[in-house]
Amino acid sequence: MPLTPLQACLLHFADEADAARRLGQAAQLPVETIDRHRFPDGELKLRLPVDGAGCLPPHVVLLRSLHDPNEKLVELLLAARAARTLGARHITLVAPYLAYMRQDIAFTPGEVVSQQVVGGFLAGLVDAVITVDPHLHRVATLQEAIAVPDAIVLSGAEPLADLIAQRRPGALLVGPDGESAQWIAQAAARHGFDHAVCTKVRHGDREVTIELPPLNAQGRAVVLLDDMASTGRTLAQAARLLRAAGAASVDVAVTHALFAGDALQALHDAGVGEVWSTDCIPHASNAVPMAEPLARALRSLLPA
Ligand code: R5P
Repeated sequence: MPLTPLQACLLHFADEADAARRLGQAAQLPVETIDRHRFPDGELKLRLPVDGAGCLPPHVVLLRSLHDPNEKLVELLLAARAARTLGARHITLVAPYLAYMRQDIAFTPGEVVSQQVVGGFLAGLVDAVITVDPHLHRVATLQEAIAVPDAIVLSGAEPLADLIAQRRPGALLVGPDGESAQWIAQAAARHGFDHAVCTKVRHGDREVTIELPPLNAQGRAVVLLDDMASTGRTLAQAARLLRAAGAASVDVAVTHALFAGDALQALHDAGVGEVWSTDCIPHASNAVPMAEPLARALRSLLPA
């Protein structure tokens, strides 16, 4: 039986109240908070916002961006399992940032392929997933990683490209590694930017070697574009090389502003000027809102 929007609600945790309000408004969904209590021993107690009859609507949307993911995965387990028993027949996870997608192969015997484990875990909890630029390298589709009937992937590359076109018209767009080629291609196609992609070899969490492609960066405003910055070392190393090659400026645009530890400082030390990101992960660099595209995807799962 088709569900109407009145039969749906958007549930979120208190730390994502702003993002939930924006998404609820854009998707025209009522927004409710999941109460969360942490016991002194670290365990969690959740309480879902049921109606007077103790029930949830048949279509439940859970918003949880999965940066700092470990505890959030337990929250999702508790919330989704309970939602089923409280009347939810269809659960959509909106995870603007999806964690554990980079570990997609065992590089050494015995290494856990986290993408498969976490993907399987999420597929056992929800019916649909909406995310932005998941780091899919050796698998072609999100559905291969999370086998749910609806696995919707949005991209921050085009809205970031629109921002770059405003702030740095005529920029030279550079991807810091081969995996960024997909986002560079999307962004360049939208605004006709000159573009190029570096090659990278990773030696450790904070150690990478980057090689610039053949390009003339002399006097150019360069923007480095990637799906995410974690330690920032990938972008910092690329920025350093571009500065040495004569770039007039190097700015950074990323979908996911993880920026662990001293990442931002490392970027600025390497000569990076501005840093722009989407609001998939809340951060001071957020410059591109994703509520509208997320809401459109959500609406496609909620029959009118
Ligand atoms: C991997 O290829 C990703 O696209 C990023 O380039 C990578 O995760 C960045 O990591 P970090 O900021 O720690 O160098």
